[in-house]
Amino acid sequence: MRRVSLTQYLVEQERKLHHVQPELRLLIEVVARACKAISHAVGKGELADVLGAAGTDNVQGEAQKKLDVISNEVLIEANSWGGSLAAMASEEMDEPFQIPNEYPKGRYLLLFDPLDGSSNIDVNVSIGTIFSVLECPPEVTTPDEASFLQPGTRQVAAGFAVYGPSTTLVLTVGHGTVGFTLDREVGSWILTQPRIEIPVETKEFSINMSNARNWPAPVKRYIDECLAGKEGPLGKDFNMRWVASMVADVYRILSRGGVFMYPADAKHKEGRLRLLYEANPMSFIVEQAGGAASTGTQRILDVQPSRLHQRIGVILGSREEVERVASYYAAAR
Ligand code: F6P
Ligand code: MN
Repeated sequence: MRRVSLTQYLVEQERKLHHVQPELRLLIEVVARACKAISHAVGKGELADVLGAAGTDNVQGEAQKKLDVISNEVLIEANSWGGSLAAMASEEMDEPFQIPNEYPKGRYLLLFDPLDGSSNIDVNVSIGTIFSVLECPPEVTTPDEASFLQPGTRQVAAGFAVYGPSTTLVLTVGHGTVGFTLDREVGSWILTQPRIEIPVETKEFSINMSNARNWPAPVKRYIDECLAGKEGPLGKDFNMRWVASMVADVYRILSRGGVFMYPADAKHKEGRLRLLYEANPMSFIVEQAGGAASTGTQRILDVQPSRLHQRIGVILGSREEVERVASYYAAAR
């Protein structure tokens, strides 16, 4: 089998389709290299004293874990000097991070959730890193929050790594979704899924059932119908999976279909997941794999963001099921 590395994949994309300029390629390679370092730290676990609380809170008032802080530092350090970026924004930092003056500035903005699935860090369950790349608005030399407030349709690349039994990287540059697996001995990302396509229909749903009493009526209706199985209106038995790491749940959906939901509800009024560095990159990846992503009432990628750390309701995965849930929202209006 011909082994295609991440670098080779990106170079070939540029040669064939002229859409991954060297500046963007370098940026993606540097992010992927940082993910290798994070994967290594995650894999050391208790041996490297990286587990447990950092003793600080992030901007959303969530207690930071040591690995949240370490992963953020790894990504910031790796991406400061390359010359592709004008600024970065992270779940773990209140304000955008400016590229230090000693380094040249580039044309892109990078957003990331350095370590997704925080509640799973200390219990040895898959976690990951999510990232999104935007163009810096023209004429802006010191990007502020407003520079990042672009709808997801403007993303030029998005990806996520999963630190699981194997370390994987899913990527889109807007021409389909592909997957790489880290060859840990060689230290190289190898293209293992040259074309990821989500099955159109599914028999699997993914939602935190403990929120059931807070769900809006359309979500209650859909889940009740799934639970009713063969005898219900959907006419088939459904299975349920909830890892509670978005990266792992979305990876499963990319692999074998399904619908993932963290809707806005009576408790999470705006939703739970962050629009700019969770919902948008995942929606871009899912759409590029033939799936769909909706808030229930709107395509996620069309949402005009109003705040850097804004949250949003997310329903994504197999197209037919996402459209069905959206139709239940429409019917309830
Ligand atoms: O980043 C937020 C997150 O950890 C996601 O990875 C995950 O889908 C969700 O929160 C889990 O939320 P809960 O703990 O409510 O199940
Ligand atoms: Mn997260």
